[in-house]
Amino acid sequence: MNATTGHDADACATTAYAPGRVNLIGEHTDYNLGYALPIALDLGTTVSFRPADDAGDGSVIIASSDAESDTVSIDLGTRPGEISGWGAYIAGCVWALRNAGHEVAAGRMTITSTVPVGSGLSSSAALECAVLLALTAHSELSGHELARIAQRAENDYVGAPTGLLDQLASLFGRADTAMLIDFRSLEVTGVPVDESATILVIDSNSPHRHAAGEYAARRASCEAAAASLGVASLRDADEDAWRRLPEGTERRRARHILTENARVLAASAALRERDETALGALMNASHESMRDDFEITTPTIDLIAETAQLRGAYGARMTGGGFGGSVIALCTADSAERLIAELPDIVSAAGHPTPTIRVVRPGPGAHLL
Ligand code: GLA
Repeated sequence: MNATTGHDADACATTAYAPGRVNLIGEHTDYNLGYALPIALDLGTTVSFRPADDAGDGSVIIASSDAESDTVSIDLGTRPGEISGWGAYIAGCVWALRNAGHEVAAGRMTITSTVPVGSGLSSSAALECAVLLALTAHSELSGHELARIAQRAENDYVGAPTGLLDQLASLFGRADTAMLIDFRSLEVTGVPVDESATILVIDSNSPHRHAAGEYAARRASCEAAAASLGVASLRDADEDAWRRLPEGTERRRARHILTENARVLAASAALRERDETALGALMNASHESMRDDFEITTPTIDLIAETAQLRGAYGARMTGGGFGGSVIALCTADSAERLIAELPDIVSAAGHPTPTIRVVRPGPGAHLL
């Protein structure tokens, strides 16, 4: 984040923007303290917060979303379990901020967003980060502190045991830049993304539902695999350590994580060298690993990725938590054009929902407007 303005003196409102993200490579590595290579999207959420004039009304935040056309009232003393649905992400931010010792003013909030919901593009992190930025505009909280507060909101209020990928990508994103994130040190290193390749995000329009148990099950398997290997986290195991595990689920889960970490580092080097062919091959290998070892893809997602791979993309893979959502494809301008024209019909002719394809570029990270 670099903007320090955003307080609109006339309207007494603070307006903050935070983007969604798409991950080039590195899935489910974040909570294993490994590596990922996301970009911030040029799609995001804008939150405008106006503190209440009347302190007597001091216990309630009213959030309204034009996307949902309903209104949620959040008591400043809200506790996990009280609010569900999209309002839980905002209530979770209020709760996590206060829990971390920060004051939250009562007031009125309005929200608009261009990030599709349920597409694996982190609409929830975009919402959390924009809300937190708008509520803390005059504090000195760092991007890392905000990311952790957002994660606490999601883990402990919403109840989704997610890692830090989405929040760090939203807060630290930069135009024309991918971020190599090391989840052990939380260091974020920019890697330039030039325009020689076109990035397509192919939304399967079959919503992901990873809060519903499968995500937590993958996390538990990784923790069990680390324990079997005698390390605190899979990050502490060498790339071949999965070979020491008995045949079975844990071994395959560990193999995905350990090989995925190696692919992220290789992908980051390939991106720096502008070697799209190498980067694409790593993306394809990542998809295969998510499909066969981590088992988080779906038939629709596999068909989209395989169609993109066979029809000219350098590489294509599912992106995000899995079980639906989106595929990211790296293409030449020509193959992008062909995929946009042909892929939706191929997928729907096979009996799946018709996908929506967007051309995206790495956009700026969260900032005050
Ligand atoms: C979701 C979670 C992230 C990360 C990804 C998978 O987006 O919110 O923390 O684990 O899935 O890489």
